[in-house]
Amino acid sequence: MKNQTYKPCDLVIYGALGDLSKRKLLISLYRLEKHNLLEADTRIIGVDRLDETSEGFVETAYKSLQSFLNHSIDEQIWLQFSKRLSYLKMDLTQSEQYKQLNAVVDPGKRVMVNYLAVSPVLFKNICHGLQASGVLNAETRIVMEKPIGHDLKSSQEINDVVCEVFNEKQVYRIDHYLGKETVLNLLALRFANSIFTTNWNHNTIDHIQITVGEEIGIEGRWDYFDKTGQLRDMLQNHLLQILTFVAMEPPADLSAESIHSEKIKVLKALRPITSRNIEEKTVRAQYTSGFVQGKQVPGYLEEEGANTESTTETFVAIRVDVDNWRWAGVPFYLRTGKRTPNKRTEIVVNFKQLPHNIFKDSFRNLPANKLVIHLQPNEGVEVVMLNKVPGIDGNIKLQQTSLDLSFSETFKANRIFGGYEKLILEALRGNPTLFLSREEIELAWIWIDSIQTAWTNNHTKPKPYPAGSWGPIASVALLARDGRAWEE
Ligand code: BG6
Repeated sequence: MKNQTYKPCDLVIYGALGDLSKRKLLISLYRLEKHNLLEADTRIIGVDRLDETSEGFVETAYKSLQSFLNHSIDEQIWLQFSKRLSYLKMDLTQSEQYKQLNAVVDPGKRVMVNYLAVSPVLFKNICHGLQASGVLNAETRIVMEKPIGHDLKSSQEINDVVCEVFNEKQVYRIDHYLGKETVLNLLALRFANSIFTTNWNHNTIDHIQITVGEEIGIEGRWDYFDKTGQLRDMLQNHLLQILTFVAMEPPADLSAESIHSEKIKVLKALRPITSRNIEEKTVRAQYTSGFVQGKQVPGYLEEEGANTESTTETFVAIRVDVDNWRWAGVPFYLRTGKRTPNKRTEIVVNFKQLPHNIFKDSFRNLPANKLVIHLQPNEGVEVVMLNKVPGIDGNIKLQQTSLDLSFSETFKANRIFGGYEKLILEALRGNPTLFLSREEIELAWIWIDSIQTAWTNNHTKPKPYPAGSWGPIASVALLARDGRAWEE
């Protein structure tokens, strides 16, 4: 059931026939329809440069749903959903073409939400075209997808262009990880549970690991990926965003201002990585051929369309230090890679070891407690602790066990929505809390640019790792140097 209504919207998707729209947006919108979360009066207008009719667009949407939803379409819901769809052919580079929008949107009655699912090179044209067409008003919103630039300068250029036409409150910058249920649950876990609230600092925590691994490779987008690399594609946004949620101070409330300002403080506290410390703090790697889930797969340089000389990284591991009172001396180890053995996104909070061990019969060194937050797949939270093995003979024997809270088991009646579903709905509702502010993106880029520059200056070549592994041995050594190990 719907628990919050919003003013009806005209959602205009630029790049409606493109990959993002077909793979994620249309499917998420259909799912919102299915769960009765779209306002009755909301319309979806697909804009693209290809010759297409509204009927053709509806057909394309249906085919996408069929292929991505495994043919499990509810025909009744589909019928209702398809009535919202229409199509407009536009060459986004031609300013005068934006006038056509006047005939299809109704800014007086509906909020116009412009979703830019196109390359950022078109953002300028779109913003200026919209301005010239006269369809904008103070309620209009613009939703932007990554990549928002490939470094600080290019991201500033994009934001400058958008901000010439829209004010910051109208701009919704998406990081789809912030829509994921378990990322949001971090707020609940940290700020609604006193056992964690009071233990979330350098007094009790030894170190924190954030892992985002994907078994997939480059999936037909070699060109884009090769210019980007794993550091910019995944770490600049998704992993740093997770880190800000783990590390931030308690916000005063859940408003966008409070959350954004706490995240900004974390980003400002990241210790810079430069040419001086790049070798000891980072690992850069590229996959070679190997086996993933029993299937042989090619190396990065053997993928279709590959430039065999490429030195782009597909795996990164980094030690991050957050220089503030809470986290002094507590490293965050981040790793992310393509072609890992499986898809796995998780946060592991490793607590400190106890100062004295009275259970030497079981463990020479008592293993410390761990809080494992499984972000995907199998969303859940696990606390790893020691318990006595039942029995009456001999000495007390301990065993490591876990308190395991699986979301799908515990919340059987509640569906876990995907990141895009949540974020599209928030954009329609006009709630910017889960979107990124300009300052956050720029601070993230400043920190990432320094790493990228150091790699370039030091000629840091990526180390090889076989597909189907968790990166090169250097990644193990990164933690081993500090007397620690990755959670496997
Ligand atoms: C995207 C990256 O932002 O996130 C992709 O560009 C990556 O390279 C994807 O595959 C991962 O998203 P998810 O939600 O499947 O973890």
